[in-house]
Amino acid sequence: LPKKKARLFNKINTKIDLDSPKVATMDKLAAGDKKVYCRCWQSGTFPLCDGTHTAHNKETGDNVGPLIVSVEKAEE
Ligand code: FES
Repeated sequence: LPKKKARLFNKINTKIDLDSPKVATMDKLAAGDKKVYCRCWQSGTFPLCDGTHTAHNKETGDNVGPLIVSVEKAEE
């Protein structure tokens, strides 16, 4: 395959901000927050996970899943 086509087959991100040279996200968590971030690049609510990875794993035999981040509540 020509190099450019080979790169297309290796793309992970096929739908998020494709016009951007890099998809980067900043987010903040407050004490007591919990967020679930997508790592499969298939979520309809990217960068948050919407559970689409489950269907992706069933279809492909992959084993991807989200990053779950939480911040404990501050003690008073
Ligand atoms: S939808 Fe991508 S990790 Fe859940």
